[in-house]
Amino acid sequence: MDLNLKNKVVVVTGASRGIGFATVKAFAQEGARVVAGARTTGPLEELAKEYDVVPVVADLSTPEGATALVAAATELGPVDVLVNNVGAVQPRLAGVAAVTDEEWLAALNANLLSAVRTTRAALPGLVQTQGTIVNIGSVNAILADPSIVDYAASKAALASWAKSLSKELGPQGVRVNTISPGPVETDLWHGANGMAETIAGAMGITHDEAVAAVVQGLGGFATGRFSRPEEIADLALFLASERSGNMTGADVTIDGGLIKTI
Ligand SMILES: NC(=O)c1ccc[n+]([C@@H]2O[C@H](COP(=O)([O-])OP(=O)(O)OC[C@H]3O[C@@H](n4cnc5c(N)ncnc54)[C@H](OP(=O)(O)O)[C@@H]3O)[C@@H](O)[C@H]2O)c1
Repeated sequence: MDLNLKNKVVVVTGASRGIGFATVKAFAQEGARVVAGARTTGPLEELAKEYDVVPVVADLSTPEGATALVAAATELGPVDVLVNNVGAVQPRLAGVAAVTDEEWLAALNANLLSAVRTTRAALPGLVQTQGTIVNIGSVNAILADPSIVDYAASKAALASWAKSLSKELGPQGVRVNTISPGPVETDLWHGANGMAETIAGAMGITHDEAVAAVVQGLGGFATGRFSRPEEIADLALFLASERSGNMTGADVTIDGGLIKTI
């Protein structure tokens, strides 16, 4: 399938590992020119030796980080595709009332305002190119959970914002879609400060037991496994391409059958 993404200017946030890194690589392999933002860019520098990838050091939880990333992309040309991927989760194991204002604001900055600000900066280019926006949401937008209350609420807000945006931008020729993954094999789950280690430490169980407890608590996967970052990236390619030209305002779940409701 020709996705016709060659030479497109693509911006990916949260790009140095996990879903963001897989997305950068997938677009680059399609011949796109990818501007990739994160606070650290080591793995992206390696990728840039082989592909048309521009790593940009940016803290995307700040207004300055978002505008700096888009400014770097605009040097290549107006933005064709924006993938709002950056996000972060911190387990809140002391109860909902114990989550401080600072923690709420950090979650909203990382998971919602990062996308709002990057989109605002990229919008003139996106309108010019009749481009597309792909947001990486989460099943937690509909799966409320006190142990990640601020993350789930910020992903619900992201989904609502994306739907509003799709209504406004559709008539201007810009499509906006969201991918809502369930658990994915990345550092967010499996890293040193990830979900599994934090829960394991708090409960006095192993990493694998923590993963099993959470997944079983949600009813388990129909497929029996986590998604892979490359599977999310492939869906982002499709949603960014003209092959999905009449899709906008959609929210596509990829969760191995974790969500059981229709
Ligand atoms: N993994 C899952 O199970 C899962 C499930 C549903 C949804 N998601 C969503 O998918 C997205 C990607 O998740 P992931 O699992 O790939 O996460 P990850 O492995 O933790 O990677 C996060 C990426 O974002 C970057 N990042 C974090 N904070 C940043 C900041 N303030 N400024 C710039 N970059 C920042 C990190 O790089 P630096 O540290 O170098 O900045 C890294 O490249 C997130 O929106 C997440 O909510 C993930």
